[in-house]
Amino acid sequence: MYAKKSDEQGPRKRCSFESEEKQLNNEVTFSKIDESPDNKSSSPGKPTSSEKGIATIIFSVKDEVGGLVKALKLFQEKHVNLIHIESRKSKRRNSDFEIFVDCDTDHKQLKELTQLLRKHTDIVEMTPLDNSTLPDDDMADVPWFPKKVSDLDLCANRVLMYGSELDADHPGFKDNIYRKRRKYFADLAMSYKQGDPIFRIDFTAEEVHTWGVVFRELNKLYLSHACKEHLKNLPLLTKYCNYSEDNIPQLEDVSHFLNERSGFIIRPVAGYLSPRDFLAGLAFRVFHCTQYVRHSSEPLYTPEPDTCHELLGHVPLLAEPSFAQFSQEIGLASLGASDDDIQKLATCYFFTVEFGLCKQDGRLRAYGAGLLSSISELKHALSGKAHILPFDPMVTCNQECKITTFQEVYFVSQSFEEAKNKMREFAKTIRRPFTVRYNPYTRSVDILKDTSSINSMVKDIRHELDIVEDALNRLKHPRV
Ligand SMILES: [Fe+2]
Repeated sequence: MYAKKSDEQGPRKRCSFESEEKQLNNEVTFSKIDESPDNKSSSPGKPTSSEKGIATIIFSVKDEVGGLVKALKLFQEKHVNLIHIESRKSKRRNSDFEIFVDCDTDHKQLKELTQLLRKHTDIVEMTPLDNSTLPDDDMADVPWFPKKVSDLDLCANRVLMYGSELDADHPGFKDNIYRKRRKYFADLAMSYKQGDPIFRIDFTAEEVHTWGVVFRELNKLYLSHACKEHLKNLPLLTKYCNYSEDNIPQLEDVSHFLNERSGFIIRPVAGYLSPRDFLAGLAFRVFHCTQYVRHSSEPLYTPEPDTCHELLGHVPLLAEPSFAQFSQEIGLASLGASDDDIQKLATCYFFTVEFGLCKQDGRLRAYGAGLLSSISELKHALSGKAHILPFDPMVTCNQECKITTFQEVYFVSQSFEEAKNKMREFAKTIRRPFTVRYNPYTRSVDILKDTSSINSMVKDIRHELDIVEDALNRLKHPRV
């Protein structure tokens, strides 16, 4: 998505999700999931064989005329509704295509279908029925979304490009050692499960040197260009996570630090995610982070997010509670949203979390990670020559995200609080038959779509208000 030749030539566009355009390439991978009936963990009660839900199946077919049609006829034969279908070239066998389908079915149908599919195709992977996405009348058209943090295991590996699969213009394209190293990082991320400790990396001297160049050059600019939250948190990261020119911090340490500061945690990711999957992570205060280092031949350039971008651009801001809340609001708004609305939210994310500016003490400062990890665009955005507009989600969501040049416009907020309030209002315009509320105790989302779920929330609010009332009474009448 964000290709550019060198930092001197223009900006880097880095974020951990890929454009809709790239999604059309239909590159999808899924983690292996136990399809045994005992592993139906998505809903508290075990479904009966006639209860319906959404199942995801990946199967491969030969790359031949009519191969896909024959396979799809099996679904028709078993009266199974297909909700979503994508295809990609198989990574296992060059002569095959992998077909990824979501279908609306029940256990009996699913069992019969898989028996039939196995006779004619090769089932690569399959998820169990997710009965928490039961197609209620008003939920039938809602795209699947994670309901609890562990559900991220179902979508965090759907990377669009990863490992040694580098584009021809990538600085590491011809470097087989680098490609092998990238595969190592990709395999680590793909095997990660929510709650696992993040694997500690023994970074090579070359990687540390590359990181050091980026660290040194960016630190020369931060004092005059970065927002005060970034400047406040970077020294803390030095103290608690060993940020320094000659050490690449470990994501596991950073994740612990963020969790204590703002409730955010880090999840390693192999490469670009779709906007939908990336934003879903934010809803659970999970930030998908790459762990590999850019190619050493161009330390000030990367055509994709790398750990330098994540650690120097994103992490200092994610440690800030108000920014964390703002990021989560975008994520919560994305759950179950239509493709159009996801695109609008992703654009708002792009012009805030990646390329946002704020005004502090009468001066423009950067808080976007794409800016805070790109020397040339950071200078440009604050040069006085850039076009700057107030952040307004209704306007920002329609702005074109530039891929190979500096942004044509940057959006400025007075504070994260202001940006959050505007995003909250914008979220109300998202078309979906429910709203969601994050439950921090269970790291899950409550779906508010009927009176009983709303009543339950009201009870919680009453309890919170009781605490406030008690605290106020104690202020008025101290009890020592
Ligand atoms: Fe990013």
